[in-house]
Order: sequence, then structure tokens, then C-alpha cells
Amino acid sequence: MINYDDFLSHSAEQMKESAIRRMGTVLAQSRNTISFAPGYPAPDTFAWNDFTEITRDLLTGVDGSVLQYGPTRGYKPLLEEIAGIMTSRGVTSTPDQLLITTGSQQGLDLVARVLLDPGDVVLVELPTYTGAITAFRNVQASMVGVPQEGDGVDLAALEDTCARLLREGRRVRVLYVVPNFQNPTGLLIGLEKRQRLLAWAERRNVLIVEDDPYRELYFEDSTTEADVRPIKADDASGRVVYLSSFSKTLAPGYRVAWIDAPAPLAAKFEMAKQAEDLCTGALDQRVVYEACRRGVLQRQLPLLRRHYQQKRDVMVEALTREFKDDLSWPSPRGGFFLWATLPPQIDSDVMIARAVENGVIYVAGEAFFVNGAGRNIIRLAFSAPSHDRIREGVTRLGETVRQELAAIEAVAR
Ligand SMILES: Cc1ncc(COP(=O)(O)O)c(C=O)c1O
Repeated sequence: MINYDDFLSHSAEQMKESAIRRMGTVLAQSRNTISFAPGYPAPDTFAWNDFTEITRDLLTGVDGSVLQYGPTRGYKPLLEEIAGIMTSRGVTSTPDQLLITTGSQQGLDLVARVLLDPGDVVLVELPTYTGAITAFRNVQASMVGVPQEGDGVDLAALEDTCARLLREGRRVRVLYVVPNFQNPTGLLIGLEKRQRLLAWAERRNVLIVEDDPYRELYFEDSTTEADVRPIKADDASGRVVYLSSFSKTLAPGYRVAWIDAPAPLAAKFEMAKQAEDLCTGALDQRVVYEACRRGVLQRQLPLLRRHYQQKRDVMVEALTREFKDDLSWPSPRGGFFLWATLPPQIDSDVMIARAVENGVIYVAGEAFFVNGAGRNIIRLAFSAPSHDRIREGVTRLGETVRQELAAIEAVAR
């Protein structure tokens, strides 16, 4: 037998399966399990009829480019459409700043490859998005966490951490943030704080990577478009690499997303992408382009905001009923996630086995921390299950937590 471990690169040795993908495997094993684990959009919101019509129109065989290789940068009319989207978000972008990627996940991978050498420091929020952790870990970057406040990353802690690292002779290259309805906490970085982050990055000569897939999904009962203004909108000097995606608004299956970056960096991302996939799927880009051009995306957005706001309400109501004081969470003003803190004696990773037995799953908080914290926290995605399944899932979760607390108490006695 060959021992393949001997053949692995240093970076491959450190690769780990994502906690969320692992939960997907658990889910596949049992159809009746209610999943609050992956942040999947609700499939009943997909514009099925429009997609059918668009795909039929595209696949007549008249235009061969629909199924052909295309430019690495992306399908030009879609890039122009994205420049228009960026304008509506307050950002002026020229074509040499834009690149279409195979999901924002590829964007994160490109950012990591192009900007980080092994040992370079990337500052991340505590907690942060697991997919970014994966991308940064794969290039052997060193991730250092900065605590959050109610309105996002703690600026004083950010400055202290950075100063300490620089004193230790480390190279601090990048600050990674998800400013709108962060995965996993659902938090929003305050507008004033966004400005101060930019000023801080300028002072410390650090690049900001702004990952923004959820911004369109703000809940109109508490949030307006003004609250989700990108950091990049005020970026006069080219400090910000901005990523966004059609995954949460049209459908993740198309894998169409984009990077908006200063032109010299965008050119490097393009070179790195050439080695990964040559180009994003041509048909996918064409469907997404048509969905933008024909007004499908614009029509969908208000529906999605209402859809997910209602689900947030259903989950909050069910949790309040089920848990009283045993669980606390910041109420999300947008996005897909609710970040819930359990009593301190519970280890949410250990509790997963009991949750699976009871037919419900979540992601244990630890997966989102680069410092081992988060043991008694869980991330609950309310986006995909129906209202009834959310209520039933919360009942099962309540049962799970009560059983777990009783088991811990029995051991302590
Ligand atoms: C913060 C964040 N960034 C990036 C992604 C990846 O999105 P995409 O489907 O575009 O690859 C996700 C998906 O959950 C996310 O939550």
C-alpha cells in the first residue's frame, strides 16, 4: 500500500473538510432531518419559469458561444451589467477592475493566492466565514482574530492587535470583513465604523477584503439600502477588494460571482484564475446576464427580502417560545443566519450527535473561530426550511438542549 501522506504538499497536509460540508453529508443520510446547517437559499424562491424560458432561448444552437470557452474575465455584457450593479451600490467601476468568478468562494481563493505568502497575517473577525478560513489556510496564511462589537469589528482591538503583530515583526497584509449580515453572526458593520476602518487601513497600509454576498437581503422592518453601503463606495485610494455574488439572489447553482478590485490586482486575479478554471461556465453567465437584462433579478429582490424576513420572524418566535432565557442572539436585520449562544456548560460540537438523533442539525460555533472559541454557540440558518419545518426544528433543538443539560448535570452529581 502506498502511503499517500508522504506525497502531500505542506499546504495539502493542512487542508480540512469544511464543517458545513460535513453537515451536508449528515443531512444526505436522513431525509427527515431538519437542517439549520448550510446557508442555502430557499429553492421555492428560485425564478424557475424565467430560467426555463431563458435557457430555452439560449440553447437553440444559433449562438455557439453559449457553450464555448470564453474570456477569463467573463462575458462582456455581464461585466457591463455588473458595473451597473456596482454603480447602484455607490461604486464606480471600469472594466479593468472587474472579474467574474466561479462563486465568491473562488474569489476568496484568488485573493488568498495573489495577496498572501505563507506566514503572512490576515486579520479576521471573531467569528468569521468558514469558507474564507479555508481559503486563507490553504495558502498557509496566519489568521489572527479581532473581536466584534454590536456594530462589527472592534476598532480599538484591531489597532492593538495590528500594533502587536508589527512589533513582533509580522507582515500584516489584509483585513477580511463581511460587513452586511455577516455569516455567521448576522451583524452589520455600522456606517461610521466603515469609514473608520478605511482610515485605519490607510494608516496601517493594509488592504481590506470586503465580502458582500448578502447586502440585497436586508429586512425592511429595520434596515434600508443606506445601511448596507459598501466600504468600497468610499474607497478613494484603492484599498478595497470587493466580492459579491448572485448565489443568494438568483441561485448558487450557477456559481456566478464577481470581484471588483484595483486594476493591477484584478489583472493578477485573472492570471491566477487561468490556472484554476480558464473561465467561469459560459451558459451560467449567459443565464445570469439574461436574468439581469430581462429584469428577473430586480423583480426577485423585494420578494426575497420579505421571504427571509418572515422566516427570521418565525425562527425568533419559535426560539423565544422554546428557550425562554436559555438562548440569546442578536436579531438579524438581514441575511440567512441567527447566531445563538447556549448556556456555558454546553459544548455545541459534542451536542451535534444528540441533535442528529433528534432529527435536527446546526453548525457548531467553533467552526467560525480562528482561536478555538465559540464552544457554546450555534449558527442556525433559517433560509431554506419552510415555516413549519423551522418551528418543528426549533422544538427538536429545545428537546436536544434540555436533554444535554440534564446529561451534564447527571455527570456532575
Ligand atoms: C460570507 C460568504 N462569502 C462567500 C460565500 C460563497 O458564496 P458563493 O456561492 O458565491 O461561492 C458565502 C456563501 O455562503 C458566504 O456566506
